[in-house]
Amino acid sequence: MATPGRYPLAIVGAGALGLHFAAGLAAVGPVALVARNAARADALRAGVQVGARLFVPEIFAPDALPAADWVILLVKTGDTAEAARTALALQPRGVLSLQNGLIEATLRAECRTVPVGQGITTEGAFREGSRVQPAGAGDTLLPAGFEAVADALCMAGFRARVEPQIAAARLAKLLVNVAINPLAALFRVPNGALLEPPHRVLLEALVHEAWPVLRQAGLDLDEDAALARVVAVATATAGNRASMLQDVLAGRRTEIDAITGTLLTMAEAGGVELPTHRAVFTLVRRLAPS
Ligand SMILES: NC(=O)c1ccc[n+]([C@@H]2O[C@H](COP(=O)([O-])OP(=O)(O)OC[C@H]3O[C@@H](n4cnc5c(N)ncnc54)[C@H](OP(=O)(O)O)[C@@H]3O)[C@@H](O)[C@H]2O)c1
Repeated sequence: MATPGRYPLAIVGAGALGLHFAAGLAAVGPVALVARNAARADALRAGVQVGARLFVPEIFAPDALPAADWVILLVKTGDTAEAARTALALQPRGVLSLQNGLIEATLRAECRTVPVGQGITTEGAFREGSRVQPAGAGDTLLPAGFEAVADALCMAGFRARVEPQIAAARLAKLLVNVAINPLAALFRVPNGALLEPPHRVLLEALVHEAWPVLRQAGLDLDEDAALARVVAVATATAGNRASMLQDVLAGRRTEIDAITGTLLTMAEAGGVELPTHRAVFTLVRRLAPS
């Protein structure tokens, strides 16, 4: 139930996934979309093509914000802190991240006065020039406390639910991301190519190194199941370009710090070295700014 005079929902980050979710949500109720700055907001005010439809968002810049009950954060991980401050300025009841990597600690540090949480989504979208192309329906899992957001997403036709084991689900997503994203970016191949020689041996090495660290943190998969999860995702997305590859090709900053960097920090805390992850981390950072 929305509070009068406030948006029930806002999304900070008018990029591929933010516009994709906003377009779906706006079909069933008001949603405020917050762009990086006034120039970007002005550019979007005339409308943007999202799939087959021209979406005209209710768009705002960080210096002129409405109030909103719930905020979804959909910026790249390097922009999390600034976007979280914007989210807080919307005076929300809670801030939910659906970003990749593990960023809940950053979110909590910036938004001390409201509940925060990080969910995961396998919903997909990519930017193609000025338009956004949905890349297939997925599942969106949210932490407890964000039932209102899950209900809104479901009403808009997205598959979404609160997941009691959200921490384990985030770790499983991190496992997939640390295995697929850096290799796809380094070798500039679609995900399916990682299942074949010569890349497969590296994919398996990354899973083999990551699994004990993630298991220790609460991943609920044994090593065979962990590899099977990564292989299943690479198979299901065989023709897709991983987001890190798209970032490298576009000369954009990658999310390597929040993905492989997070894993390396977790390993270091346990006194463990992950040489293959360290190598791909160093190489990806040299490919593009992180
Ligand atoms: N795309 C997918 O299919 C997908 C799937 C699952 C998870 N994710 C995750 O979702 C997150 C967003 O991904 P994406 O593909 O949507 O990225 P994206 O297309 O790069 O969109 C991010 C948007 O955030 C904007 N932004 C940056 N800082 C901001 C700020 N302080 N305030 C407001 N807006 C700001 C950017 O503005 P500019 O345009 O000015 O840079 C950009 O439009 C990432 O963590 C990604 O890993 C994406």
